[in-house]
Parts: sequence; structure tokens; C-alpha cells
Amino acid sequence: MTATTEETRTSEKAGAIPTFDITLRVRRYLPESTHGEESYWEDHQLTMLATDRVLDALHKIKWETDGSLTFRRSCAHGICGSDAMRINGRNRLACKALLKDLNPGKPITVEPIKGLPVIKDLVVDMEPFFASYREIMPFLITSGNEPSQERLQSAEQRERFDDTTKCILCAACTTSCPVFWTDGQYFGPAAIVNAHRFIFDSRDDGATQRLEILNDKEGVWRCRTAFNCTEACPRGIEVTKAIQEVKRAMITRAF
Ligand code: SF4
Ligand code: F3S
Ligand code: FES
Repeated sequence: MTATTEETRTSEKAGAIPTFDITLRVRRYLPESTHGEESYWEDHQLTMLATDRVLDALHKIKWETDGSLTFRRSCAHGICGSDAMRINGRNRLACKALLKDLNPGKPITVEPIKGLPVIKDLVVDMEPFFASYREIMPFLITSGNEPSQERLQSAEQRERFDDTTKCILCAACTTSCPVFWTDGQYFGPAAIVNAHRFIFDSRDDGATQRLEILNDKEGVWRCRTAFNCTEACPRGIEVTKAIQEVKRAMITRAF
């Protein structure tokens, strides 16, 4: 959307929807600027609609005052998982965080998620996160001959891993985990959630392999049940419970 289109959208709505003033305090990191390798806070005074989200405020800055502000986003509707950020000290999706719910009387802080290298402004290097995801083999593993018909599954069997199918790989969980902050080698909750999604799938034959991968010094036993991951998950996945179930499966080998 161009700045002109955005201005039209805002002015069209402004007649019907109340506006309010906010200060958006954004953590900037511009390695090529005179600030060198230092990151710094930058305040923006904005007039926003009561229905606007943090993503709308970031767009307003980018499209109207400073095109160099850099952040990831795509769907703007909580589906693609690309705009996880630390907002007022808590990991959230910028497209799902309403400004009016963020104590807008005070500056609203926006920072990159923690524990991954910052590339520019709010953009972090996601490669370590996706490397752990790939390691747990996030795909169906089967043995024997190709089936001649669909692999059937009962409603109860599907229900067993329903919660963990909801993951959108936003990294809000892993980058809110204190163990991951101190040990970036830890697989992290997102990788374990995605292992859970296949370990408990009745059609999959790779559970033993995945459990062996996670029975590592950087695997499930590093989890200290801090629950930050569950609180951060924008999809409402019971992340800590899923980790506990994987631990239990490792001990009992029942899945
Ligand atoms: Fe994001 Fe939740 Fe998936 Fe973690 S489990 S990556 S917080 S959707
Ligand atoms: Fe970390 Fe979640 Fe465990 S925050 S310590 S992975 S319960
Ligand atoms: Fe896709 Fe927020 S932009 S989840």
C-alpha cells in the first residue's frame, strides 16, 4: 500500500472512529549509520485510530516519516508469523497487538525478539531458529509400501496432536525462553512443539528418531518449566504442556 493510499484509508475512517495520540518508542539498529554498532531508542509521536494495532503505527512511520524503519510483516492477520516483536516487554505479533490495550498513556516500546542476532531495527536472523526446526524432521515419516488408499485416522487420533498443529513458526515462544537467552544451542520450545505434532500423529513412524534427537543435552531436558513460552504464544498453544508430553514419551516410549 502506498503512503497516499494509507492516508486515504486513515482519513476515511477517522470520521467514524475516535483517534488518540501515542508515543511509539522503537529500538533502532542501523549498522550502516553514524550510530555504528550501537542500538538506540527513537520516539515517534503519532495520532492513531482507536482500532489500530502496533503494525499500523509502524506502517505509519515507515510510509509517512521514515522509510528506513525495517521490520518483517506479510499477512497482517496473525497467520504468517513474520512480525513477532517484543512490545512493552512481552513477545507479541505486531498485527494482533491493539494500541489501546497497551497502556497508551505511556510510551509503547517495540524491540526485536531476544536471543537471535539483530540484522537491522526489528529484523533478526531467524536461521538458528529454523535450523532447530529442520533438525526435528517436521514432516511425515512412514515405513512399508506406499498405501493404496488414504491413511485413515480417527477423530480421537487427530485430536491427540491438534493443539500443536496450530503453530505458525513465529518464534515468540523460543525467544521468550530464559534458557534460550542464555544458551542459544537449546532446541527451544517451537522445535519441540513441532516434534510433538508428528510424535503423536498415529500415521507417523518417526517418533523414536525424533525422541532420540531431542534426548540431547540441548533437547527437552533443558526446559525448566518457566512457562514464558506458553504465555507468549499468539496461537494459544499449550507449549509447556506439549514439552512435558514429549518428556513423558521419552521416559515411557508411549506415543
Ligand atoms: Fe509461535 Fe506458538 Fe509456534 Fe511458538 S508455538 S512458534 S509462539 S505459534
Ligand atoms: Fe523455556 Fe518454556 Fe521451558 S519458557 S524453560 S521452554 S516452559
Ligand atoms: Fe503475519 Fe502478523 S503479519 S502474523
